[in-house]
Amino acid sequence: MKPKILISRVIPEPAVELLRRHCEVDYNSGDRPLGRAGLVRRLKGKRGLVCLLTDDIDDAVLASPGLEMAANVAVGFNNVDVAAATRRGVLISNTPGVLTETTADFAWTLLLAAARRVGEAERFLRAGKYKGWGILMLLGVDVHGKTLGLVGLGRIGQAVARRARGFGMRLLYTDLSRATPEAEKEAGAEFVPLERLLKDSDFVSLHVPLLESTRHMIGERQFAMMKPTAVLVNTSRGPVVDEAALVRALKARRIAGAGLDVYEREPKLSPGLAKLENAVLAPHIASATVETRTKMAMMAAENLLAGLNGQRPPNLANPECWDARAKA
Ligand code: GLV
Repeated sequence: MKPKILISRVIPEPAVELLRRHCEVDYNSGDRPLGRAGLVRRLKGKRGLVCLLTDDIDDAVLASPGLEMAANVAVGFNNVDVAAATRRGVLISNTPGVLTETTADFAWTLLLAAARRVGEAERFLRAGKYKGWGILMLLGVDVHGKTLGLVGLGRIGQAVARRARGFGMRLLYTDLSRATPEAEKEAGAEFVPLERLLKDSDFVSLHVPLLESTRHMIGERQFAMMKPTAVLVNTSRGPVVDEAALVRALKARRIAGAGLDVYEREPKLSPGLAKLENAVLAPHIASATVETRTKMAMMAAENLLAGLNGQRPPNLANPECWDARAKA
């Protein structure tokens, strides 16, 4: 008998097709999250779940009788209570690797757009304000030859670093733990404490997961350390930045600009943020290409199929849960 699973929200079709071949699929093909009550209701009798970062997979959802595994279609899994999942014996997987280069491309998109005021220039043009070329019109700042500070030198941080080579930049990085000498050499980045990175960088790009230790790691005190010409780029998770403090820093020109893909209370923006000309704002689309989103969904599907087949899913977020099962 095919295992019963739930797909919580629309995902790329090839992954749905793969899952339908091996499972009895309950598919919420609409593009709206089901919410906790909807998830709990639709999970009845299901062994597996494919979920997205807009699903809050908390203890109440994980308590669903018979649920064996949830495959999150995202590399970040801060939307899942992993400790509760492990306690309940529910395997959790994520999608690392496949979105690295695409996300790094987008961090650069935001960095360049903020440095060269692309959003502001486009709004200016579309509003019919362009009355002719001007030598002082919409001056940005150079990117090439500047200092880029990477907060986090994991897969995505390293991919951002690789792209910085073409811009002849000096690279600094900080992380929860220092990278291997090989990774440092490959990235061409110098390990410094966060304070030094903030003081010395022209561009600061965030590439850390959301953890209790990274929540609000960039706030009032950190903006005060940054150069008034600096640009902050965030493609990680919104709550890594104190967004109200960021709005104040951008308003007061404490820093020059920001390129943001993620927000503290998505999809809501902090009051005043949308009005700021020196912020380039995108709606959480760093991994949003046809190729990458398809790969992410396929990876989640493959993880789920492995787990439901009694094989170790390749991308477990809670390997300890698998180990405990193997021992039992
Ligand atoms: C997107 O934000 C992801 O974590 O994959």
